[in-house]
Amino acid sequence: MTSVNWDGLRDAAVKVAGNAYAPYSGFLVGAAALVDDGRVVTGCNVENASYGVGLCAECGLVSNLRSSGGGKLVAISIVHRFSTDSDAAEGVAPCGRCRQVLYEFGGADLAVEAGNGVVSLSSLLPDAFGPENLSE
Ligand code: THU
Repeated sequence: MTSVNWDGLRDAAVKVAGNAYAPYSGFLVGAAALVDDGRVVTGCNVENASYGVGLCAECGLVSNLRSSGGGKLVAISIVHRFSTDSDAAEGVAPCGRCRQVLYEFGGADLAVEAGNGVVSLSSLLPDAFGPENLSE
């Protein structure tokens, strides 16, 4: 497996956060992930006037993963950006729902750069329910 270019993933996450649609929260989120075939996929949050139906950045990323050919997520960087006027950003811990969404496509070993360095998804979502629980 290729090594992870964390600087590249973070830069891609910051860049795509600039495309976020977050007029209600003002919280611009970007995510960029390395796929096991070497692709990089990205996503940003997309809010809605009906607040509860807003989409997290990680959901967009997973949609892009599937629509660009599938594969398994190996590493992901998630950031929020303070403004589109500057590249200043910091890591974001994925919300609970997104941890589950990521588990489906990255599994326990997915390396996650969120607020506190790089951790495995299993530490963010211990004892996860996943596809393996549905197989006989
Ligand atoms: N958000 C994400 O995009 N990903 C997360 O993991 C945390 C939260 C978005 C949802 C909403 O548009 C904004 O951040 C504020 O909660």
